[in-house]
Amino acid sequence: MRFAKTLSPIAVGALLAIAPLAARADTVVKIGFAAPLTGPNASYGKDLENGVKMALDDAKAQGVKINGQPVSFELVAEDDQADPRVGVQVAQKLVDEGVSVVVGHFNSGTTIPASDLYEKAGLPDIDPAATNPTISGRGFKNIFMVISSDAQNAGTAGAYAVTTTKAKRIAVIDDRTAFGQGEADEFVKAVKAHGGDIIDREYTTNQASDFKTQLTNLKGKNPDLIFVGALNPQAAGIMKQMSQLGLKAQYVGGGGVKDVDFIKLAGDVSEGAMAWEYGRPLDSTPVGAKFAERFKQKYGADVLSYAPFGYDAAWTAIKAMQAANSTKPDDYRPKLQSISFDGITGHIEFNPNGSLKNGSSTVYQVKNGQWVTVKTVSGL
Ligand code: ALA
Repeated sequence: MRFAKTLSPIAVGALLAIAPLAARADTVVKIGFAAPLTGPNASYGKDLENGVKMALDDAKAQGVKINGQPVSFELVAEDDQADPRVGVQVAQKLVDEGVSVVVGHFNSGTTIPASDLYEKAGLPDIDPAATNPTISGRGFKNIFMVISSDAQNAGTAGAYAVTTTKAKRIAVIDDRTAFGQGEADEFVKAVKAHGGDIIDREYTTNQASDFKTQLTNLKGKNPDLIFVGALNPQAAGIMKQMSQLGLKAQYVGGGGVKDVDFIKLAGDVSEGAMAWEYGRPLDSTPVGAKFAERFKQKYGADVLSYAPFGYDAAWTAIKAMQAANSTKPDDYRPKLQSISFDGITGHIEFNPNGSLKNGSSTVYQVKNGQWVTVKTVSGL
């Protein structure tokens, strides 16, 4: 009170006028996120989530404004358990929650039905990891992929198997999910387009742990290369059991396999395995190497696989909102369509259907217990 008494009425009036401004909180922008955060695919989902969190923290540190107003980004993260049914439930939750964008999901099997819902709600979905070509192949205006599709990744794998590896007896096993089946289909298409032969195709599920029946069938056909369309829990199990059965064909994994988890799960027998992964190696550019270093400092763990794509996906949304001076989908969607920036994973720009323009793919091989880069194919 003594303080107030010493102020002139004019000064008090000025203070009162300023007070609401000073006390005003930043506008909260809710960023939806969905991925498997529990279950066998949880490590992929958490890595992805950490990438998104890092983008939001960086945006905060940079004092990002939208329409001249300071904003604070709030992550609304949902666990879809890699289950299409749960994926749709959490998608509905994110729509009801009024998020401004969704970054997600991880699995194609959840992304396809969830993005149906986002499309109906007019809510943009920036896909950082799910790669079935159907995702951008439905004429939706709300889906944007910052990652190459399996038409690009597994398609390139198929061409390479015939033209570079010169495999003559090519076989395929997949987990029958939208992802595994999708990439196996793209691989087979490309093998045939390059004049190669598929001598056998076997199937498993994304719950299975015993692959001996299928691998025994494959062994009987004497393949020289086997393409495996599955994520780590099954992909590594297949590698292990190939070794147990004395099946010596070249192992070629699709996406989601080139990481330390695969080597840990498969153990020593992972030596020589090859895998195709979306984009370029993280440490092949200064921005990628810097990201890897900052990520490790922040989380005390290396990037597993998709964190950089999560980071780029979140920034894609933020940059479009900034360009539109709005967080409303109808306002900022056109800016997503014309976005163009250099991210951690590469240049981000979209084709009219929302797929990544000029994607790339890299094939890696396990040598001395580590994945090493064999070759990057660009301009896909
Ligand atoms: N790329 C994987 C998928 O589409 C993670 O499911």
